[in-house]
Amino acid sequence: MLSPIYAICLAILLPAVTHGLKVERSQNFPLSFEIENVALRPSGAALALSYASEAHIFEVPIRANATPKVIYTFQNATGVASITASPLKEDEYIVITGNFSFLTIAPAPGSYAIHRLTFPPHSATPIVEFLAPLTALSQPNGLIAVPGTPSVLIADSRDGIVWRFNTKTLKLEQYFDHPLLKPLASSAPILFGVNGIKLTRGYFYFSNSNQEIVARLPGTGCETPGLSGTPEIVVTETPIDDFIVNECNGDLYLAQNFVNSLGFRAAKSNSTVPTILLGGVNSTELQEPSAVIWAKGEEGRKLIVTSSGPVEQFETQNFTEGGRLTFIELDS
Ligand SMILES: *[C@@H]1O[C@H](CO)[C@@H](O)[C@H](O)[C@H]1NC(C)=O
Ligand SMILES: *[C@@H]1O[C@H](CO)[C@@H](O)[C@H](O)[C@H]1NC(C)=O
Ligand SMILES: *[C@@H]1O[C@H](CO)[C@@H](O)[C@H](O)[C@H]1NC(C)=O
Ligand SMILES: *[C@@H]1O[C@H](CO)[C@@H](O)[C@H](O)[C@H]1NC(C)=O
Ligand SMILES: *[C@@H]1O[C@H](CO)[C@@H](O)[C@H](O)[C@H]1NC(C)=O
Repeated sequence: MLSPIYAICLAILLPAVTHGLKVERSQNFPLSFEIENVALRPSGAALALSYASEAHIFEVPIRANATPKVIYTFQNATGVASITASPLKEDEYIVITGNFSFLTIAPAPGSYAIHRLTFPPHSATPIVEFLAPLTALSQPNGLIAVPGTPSVLIADSRDGIVWRFNTKTLKLEQYFDHPLLKPLASSAPILFGVNGIKLTRGYFYFSNSNQEIVARLPGTGCETPGLSGTPEIVVTETPIDDFIVNECNGDLYLAQNFVNSLGFRAAKSNSTVPTILLGGVNSTELQEPSAVIWAKGEEGRKLIVTSSGPVEQFETQNFTEGGRLTFIELDS
């Protein structure tokens, strides 16, 4: 029998490959929210997170002009940093909250915590359960589930370390440490090393914002005591936040926040330097994209990109445009 992913990959190979993009957008999020990350509900709707002023979780249906709606607000933090669908239960999520200042470009020490968010059947409002403080981490960022286990991996952008947290036992341990995960002192005060992380195709992939790379090494998330090895750099010269991998062929789609664009690095390209699929440094099509994810059931075909609006507004606090979700069909 075909494994589910192999069946999906075969299906993706069938349509003729064209190079047009069909682009649609949600309504804007309210002003002043930095839209940081996204996960999908079983319905396909997006749960998007806000940073900067209030720790909202918005739900947004995946269709043109959909209106983002606040479904939950954390009271004990100014932002929601990370979200991932739970590895073990449908419509359950693991979420990290904390306080980050866009004026000082720094996190509030000791402000981060990890929670479980569950939607009871037929309820639009989640139940939220505090799991643990994350005081050992400086600035949690990328968060992913380890498939088939109760654990998640957490990228700490400021310390340049990847942690593993078991959501059942609440045990927190270092998973991976390497120079390619570190921020660059020369980038201060914008200290962002490892940012997005993914487990796919038998590899642990990560982006590093300051080093402007994506790299990978064989990994499953289950290694004990942790992962070791030398990463292979697969993308260079990418001012990147988060990214997604095409599980079928290894192509990479890159949320390049500082250059307002969606980057693309084909797995079979000779060059590690990405091309630009949408947007550009002076373009308003994708302003400060922060994360990219496949739409539900549309792996290889349709991307959802979160963006926050003009980046300078978080410095000047003169907010002119809200963030939004951009829906990109690749093979139209
Ligand atoms: C984080 O922000 C919240 C909401 O403003 C505040 O109540 C809390 O004291 C802050 N925590 C830290 C550690 O700064
Ligand atoms: C607020 O957050 C801090 C830091 O994560 C945590 O220690 C504290 O228990 C939280 N308080 C409430 C009321 O949730
Ligand atoms: C990539 O490498 C192949 C084989 O060496 C070569 O034929 C092709 O021209 C190269 N393409 C580019 C864009 O450099
Ligand atoms: C973007 O705009 C700046 C300022 O107007 C200009 O100097 C730069 O050449 C532009 N870059 C591109 C790629 O268009
Ligand atoms: C805020 O930005 C808008 C648009 O760029 C500009 O017209 C306005 O003067 C700015 N307001 C302040 C107080 O700087």
